[in-house]
Amino acid sequence: MFPMNTWYVACTPDEITDKPLGRKICGLQIVLYRGREGKVAALEDFCPHRGAALSLGSVVDGNLMCGYHGLVMDCHGKAVSMPMQRVNGFPCIRSYPVEERHGYVWIWPGDAAKADPATIPDLPWSNNPEWAFGGGLYHIQCSYRLMVDNLMDLTHEAYVHVGSIGQNEIDQSPVKTHMEGNQVVTSREMHDIVAPPFWQMAMRAQGLDDQVRVDRWQYSRFTAPGSVLIDVGVALAGQGGINADPAQRVYAIVVDFMTPETETSHWYFWGMARHFKPDDSALTDSIRQGQGAIFNQDLAVLEAQQHNREAFEGRRLLALNIDAGGVRANRILDDMVVAERALPTEAAVG
Ligand code: FES
Ligand SMILES: [Fe+2]
Repeated sequence: MFPMNTWYVACTPDEITDKPLGRKICGLQIVLYRGREGKVAALEDFCPHRGAALSLGSVVDGNLMCGYHGLVMDCHGKAVSMPMQRVNGFPCIRSYPVEERHGYVWIWPGDAAKADPATIPDLPWSNNPEWAFGGGLYHIQCSYRLMVDNLMDLTHEAYVHVGSIGQNEIDQSPVKTHMEGNQVVTSREMHDIVAPPFWQMAMRAQGLDDQVRVDRWQYSRFTAPGSVLIDVGVALAGQGGINADPAQRVYAIVVDFMTPETETSHWYFWGMARHFKPDDSALTDSIRQGQGAIFNQDLAVLEAQQHNREAFEGRRLLALNIDAGGVRANRILDDMVVAERALPTEAAVG
């Protein structure tokens, strides 16, 4: 079960070319395409004629044409035309609210009447020349909730990401979890340490000596249903950490949007927004490559964990203090699902 009356990232804008894109989201088979003036539309990926996948069709004059026998649907899911047929009585298919904003295409898989584009999260780095962003997409065979757990407990960096962002001080530093409004925040600070290789590179890019000792921070911020934005950075030791003078620190946001595909798979939109050298596109590429390799390490662990959870179904798991952020995030998701199920259905209201 997933929260449905909420916005998820469906895809990145470049994934929808002149061809439609088929994607399963929250268990729903959906087709996304660009209609008139390039505006994105989302429909059930189901042709009302014989049930072919509309995502295998093509876009014609801003409408979607089924690739099997040529039925044309508009962006609201209404049949427009079909060779040698009258289509007036054809059943409509479902359309979904969809918005292109902040470098992503957002979809509302639940009750369309409740969709309010004003509730799409604001992303501070988008359209801001002080920031640069690079990212990618992984299709991962595990529940999106396991990825939320992973990102809300970065202890694993010391083990999974040795040689890049991992360092021993991570699991020797206490972790705290608290709420900020509707956000779950898990934070960790490491004081007076040597920066790991990734941050040494970032320090050099910022014009700082990469051998001086630093204070390092990680603040993982979960917002339902599938967003974890992580404030990360280092500052010269003793200068105030995350609040240090901008000339003495280097920082970024690790960007993670998880969209469920099924109960045991999800779409993972990852990236990094950085607040240093925003015009350096070669640096953007090299960070993207490095981050892609790091998240590939997570992918291997998480897919095996999902497999194990199924193989050892029913086994009791431990919840330690390092798991507090993930536990709270999961509780919020559970509450959302329960609240949606308690809502009267349209039939009951009528
Ligand atoms: S199945 Fe789509 S037109 Fe026949
Ligand atoms: Fe990781």
